[in-house]
Amino acid sequence: MDWIDRVLINNNGTIQAACDAQVPALDHGFLYGDSVYETLRTYQARPFLLGAHMDRLERSIGRIGLTCPCSRKDLEKEVLRVIGAYREQDFTSGALGEVDPGNLAVRVVISRGIGPIGLDVTLCEDPRFLIYAFAIPDRPLGYYDEGISLVISKVRRNHPQALDPGIKSGNFLNNILAFNDAREAGVQEAVLLNAEGYVAEGTTSNIFMVSDGRLRTPIPQGILSGITRAVVLEEALAAGIETEECRFTSEELLSAEEAFITSSVRGVVPVAAINGMTIGKPGSITRTVMELYEARVRKECG
Ligand code: PDD
Repeated sequence: MDWIDRVLINNNGTIQAACDAQVPALDHGFLYGDSVYETLRTYQARPFLLGAHMDRLERSIGRIGLTCPCSRKDLEKEVLRVIGAYREQDFTSGALGEVDPGNLAVRVVISRGIGPIGLDVTLCEDPRFLIYAFAIPDRPLGYYDEGISLVISKVRRNHPQALDPGIKSGNFLNNILAFNDAREAGVQEAVLLNAEGYVAEGTTSNIFMVSDGRLRTPIPQGILSGITRAVVLEEALAAGIETEECRFTSEELLSAEEAFITSSVRGVVPVAAINGMTIGKPGSITRTVMELYEARVRKECG
């Protein structure tokens, strides 16, 4: 299990190897998925768009009536502390293999904390934070050059009046069930439709398509309003690419000229096929968007 050696955790203020880090069995994050989180990326050991992630974390915290165990400033310091600690690890001793400690995924979790079994959140008095830093997993050859394959999941995205996908919550079964469809189809990501049958988002990504030369992505209601998505829209607009947030169906997606997914961990990933139907190699708008995103990363992180 060498992957576990690649994870370092700031467990409520204590930096620990993943194999030593523990969470109490009565933590409601574990019992009920009663937690919120963010996942961001570092490039050259600098967190990319930390402010935007902290803004969204605060919104998620507010939406579920959680109290953050520390101030935003202190939480940001704790994020930087675990990124720094990761760099100080000894990567020369074999098990960790080729790890670039400057390029990490960082997952910040705020959990409700311990309380009696039951749904009364006011009985949970000690929310806790966990910040996981881990090396980005290797992607198969061709992932960015050739594109990945998607499947449209049978599972529908949570209705916003049930558990709003706009809250980035640790309650992830909706996405896990959908991802089973991707795994069974042998593809990299599954796309969920919303209750009305329109395309919503991927299990851990937002989706874009190009049709009639226009870059289209679903409206930000009923999905997670992705930070990568926002950067792509902003950069594309500034570069003069026509963009549109709109409703579209899976049939429209299947006949798209180009498609790609976005997430903080993966950035912009071209889509080569959906449900076994070929979309093709990354098209010109996708390649331009990938370049714009890379330029933004360089601008912010050097
Ligand atoms: N996932 N939609 C869902 C359901 C997600 O879980 C994510 C991110 C996104 C993309 O959002 P952003 O661009 O802000 O990363 C969209 C992260 C990577 C995760 O689950 O770790």
